[in-house]
Order: sequence, then structure tokens, then C-alpha cells
Amino acid sequence: MKSKKDILSISDIKDEIPKILDLAIKFKNGEITDKPLEGKSLAMIFQKSSTRTRVSFEVGMYELGGNSLFLSSSDLQLFRGEPISDTAKVLSRYVDGIMIRTFNHQDVLELSQEADVPVINGLTNLEHPCQALADMQTILEKKGNFNGKFAYVGDGNNVCNSLLLISTYLGMDISIATPKGYQPNKDIADEAKNISKKTGADVQITNIVEDAVFGADVVYTDVWVSMGNEEEKEKRRNDFIKYQVNTELMKLAAEDAIFMHCLPAIRGEEVVSDVIDGLQSVIIDQAENRLHAQKAVLYYLMK
Ligand code: CP
Ligand code: NVA
Repeated sequence: MKSKKDILSISDIKDEIPKILDLAIKFKNGEITDKPLEGKSLAMIFQKSSTRTRVSFEVGMYELGGNSLFLSSSDLQLFRGEPISDTAKVLSRYVDGIMIRTFNHQDVLELSQEADVPVINGLTNLEHPCQALADMQTILEKKGNFNGKFAYVGDGNNVCNSLLLISTYLGMDISIATPKGYQPNKDIADEAKNISKKTGADVQITNIVEDAVFGADVVYTDVWVSMGNEEEKEKRRNDFIKYQVNTELMKLAAEDAIFMHCLPAIRGEEVVSDVIDGLQSVIIDQAENRLHAQKAVLYYLMK
């Protein structure tokens, strides 16, 4: 049994979430200024595009005194068929941590199993835990606590799965509205319902968008066509049409509700410009928090 820590799912840090958020806030406030990762390197494997995840990890490592290596799918033997196990073992001899963004969550589990260094999920088709941490940091910053209602509207995808777990672990009520056939992952939804019995979070998963958003303090959405779903583009646009976050829908939320989106966004699809570029939107602060949350994750795993 390896003693290293990983963050592949929000469940991996269930007892550590408040501690990581606290660290993220300290980084944002400039309360940790030493270089705790001096001499350490992070390999960053990307099989999908990225702006925020790549830049926040890269800058985060730099600011903590370490070094990062950007390894795209066109650079690595992994994507020419080299086994994940060989890649994991070899990289473990060079670097102190591995961040990976890929499609199949199972691949990340295998990488973690075989690696001797911490592995961080930078997005799979199942989860996006680093995003969820930055999102909860943002909610704490904007609302002061997790006592309100979180509404997620749209695709029950990777981002939604991690948000469902993190909000129930933190005891925040969450209401998710998706079209039929696009609900969050069943195992994750079951886990969330179990956790909610302990934390008191109310978990609703519905197809009725108005029910999810009614009285919400946070309204969150993500793209209808995630990376890897491009072939279903037309079908998804039709299936999600009633799940757009627009000004009418926002009127059902609390008057001081905030609008959140992990980005990138497609204006005119999952959200209209008036909302995402309007006064209730906190998307740029949310994106900034990826940097602080990433530093907290790196510090927690690699220091
Ligand atoms: N939200 C997010 O993960 O953005 P990128 O795809 O740009 O990394
Ligand atoms: N659900 C999106 C998130 C991107 C950050 C995707 O997987 O493409």
C-alpha cells in the first residue's frame, strides 16, 4: 500500500476539504509567501485542451518555488501506446507529482495505482475536483458560508459530479436540473445522498429547471458539449434547449444570487451574455481562484 496522497475524486479529500480551502484563502491573501516546493517538479499530462488548468498549475508551481513540465498528447509515448504503468513508474523517478487531464477516469486510477508520487485529476469524463475546490472557495468568498442553496443547471457531467460531492461534503444544499438521460453519475449521486444524511445537505436531482433554480443563492452551468462529446453536438443542442441560463431563469433565484461557470462558456447556448457578463456573474473571480486552489492542492499533496 502506497502512503502517497492523490486527488482523483472529491471523495479522496472528503475530510480535508475545509483544510484545503483554508490554505487556498491563505494563498490568496498572501499569508504563505515561502517557497515550499523548491526543487520539486510537476509533470502535467494533457490529452485535452486547457487554458485555466494548465496556466494555474504552471504558475502555481512557479510561485511555490517548483517547476512544471507541460506534456501534451503529441509529446508523450503514452499516446502512441506505451502502457500507463510504464509511464507512471518512469515519471515517478523524475518528478514529485503528476497532474493529468484525459478522457477515461479509469486511466487516471491506473496511473495513480502505478505511480509512486501524488496524482492529481485535472479533468476526466467523470470528475473535475480542482475546479470544484476553486468554486467552493468562490462561494465562501462571495457568500461567507455554505448555508445557501446551490443550483446546477445543464449537463450532469464531470464538473457537476464533483460539485455534487463537494457541496454535500460541505453540507450545502444542492439542486441539479438536467434533461432526462444527462443526470449526474449514478454512483456519485448515491454517494452524495449517503453523505447528505450525515452533513444535512439537501440533495435534489430533477428534470425541472425552475424547481432547481427557485430561491437559489448560486446558479451554475457548464457547456452542453464537453470535450469528447463533439459528435453529439446537434442532439445535445436540442436536448438542452430548455436548460439555458437566461435572465428569466435568474429571476427565480434569490435577488442576490451569483452566477458561476467553470469556463470556457458558449454565450447563447448554456448561458446568455446578459447573465454571464452581467452584475451577478462572478466568473472571473472564480477563474482566478483556480490559481489559489491549485496552490493549496500542490502544497497539500507535495510539500
Ligand atoms: N475550467 C477549466 O478547467 O478550464 P480549462 O479547460 O481552460 O482548463
Ligand atoms: N465539462 C467541460 C469542462 C471543461 C473545463 C468539459 O469536459 O469539456
